[in-house]
Amino acid sequence: MFKIASQTSLQETGAALINFGRAKDAKGDGMEISKLKKIVKESYGKIAQSGCGCSCSCRNKAAGQIAKSIGYSDAEISAAPDANLGLGCGNPTALGEIREGETVLDLGSGAGFDCFLAAKKTGKTGKVIGVDMTDAMVEKARANAAKYGYPNVEFRLGEIEELPVEHNSVDVIISNCVINLSPNKGKVFSEAYRVLKKGGRLFVSDIVLLKELSVSDRKNEELIAGCVGGAVLKDEYLKLITGAGFTIKTLSEDAGISKRQYEGFPLESLKVAAYK
Ligand SMILES: C[S@@+](CC[C@H](N)C(=O)[O-])C[C@H]1O[C@@H](n2cnc3c(N)ncnc32)[C@H](O)[C@@H]1O
Repeated sequence: MFKIASQTSLQETGAALINFGRAKDAKGDGMEISKLKKIVKESYGKIAQSGCGCSCSCRNKAAGQIAKSIGYSDAEISAAPDANLGLGCGNPTALGEIREGETVLDLGSGAGFDCFLAAKKTGKTGKVIGVDMTDAMVEKARANAAKYGYPNVEFRLGEIEELPVEHNSVDVIISNCVINLSPNKGKVFSEAYRVLKKGGRLFVSDIVLLKELSVSDRKNEELIAGCVGGAVLKDEYLKLITGAGFTIKTLSEDAGISKRQYEGFPLESLKVAAYK
């Protein structure tokens, strides 16, 4: 698990944090949800600016090691090293076929790592769109696109609960370790359904819980920003996907990631394919 210094006081966020991981819809107080988003946004803003996903001492070497342990090949890791911040929990572009000429959307694109790997598959006739709510991440991703030469990869600033993307316009959606951070996961999946073309595919790698967390863990800002505090139980997560209209197939489950990266918290990295 990576450690992130937090800025927002726990007392300010109070009970909303307890509900954060359990929220299935947007019924919570808008103010409280915006505070939760602030915690996440500020944390990932710092990571984008420092270039460090875990602790700063782990830069480069650890990001590469983490990437290898979650399913990236050496060739993929070396394709765009500055875009790999060691923030993922799987390799979503390896979960299913992405064809030449297709349009791919990455939910929570970070510094762009998975977008660039997707662009290698779509080729120049295809297009990749990354959406992320953190300004510094989007700036970093755009700089990486210029640096590594990906003119067909576009990064949009926006929230995955309100995607800045046209209806029925995307062939494949990917997402890597992001939806757990959303206080409104049901809305994320319904937005994904809205923007996918009929027959479109969603390949998700994400952290899900195998056991409920304690109230204090739910309130812990480092755990919230670190993809633990906002995660929901596996069954609940799968129900949110099917509830949005998708047909799903669980592809694999990596429970070993708990000890490797998350200090033994009762969680796993779940890989799911979903079809519209
Ligand atoms: C754990 S990082 C993963 C980044 C990237 N997918 C990767 O694997 O390197 C989470 C990213 O999701 C973004 N994010 C979190 N919640 C979001 C939301 N509700 N809408 C858009 N972006 C979000 C953060 O800004 C951050 O860049």
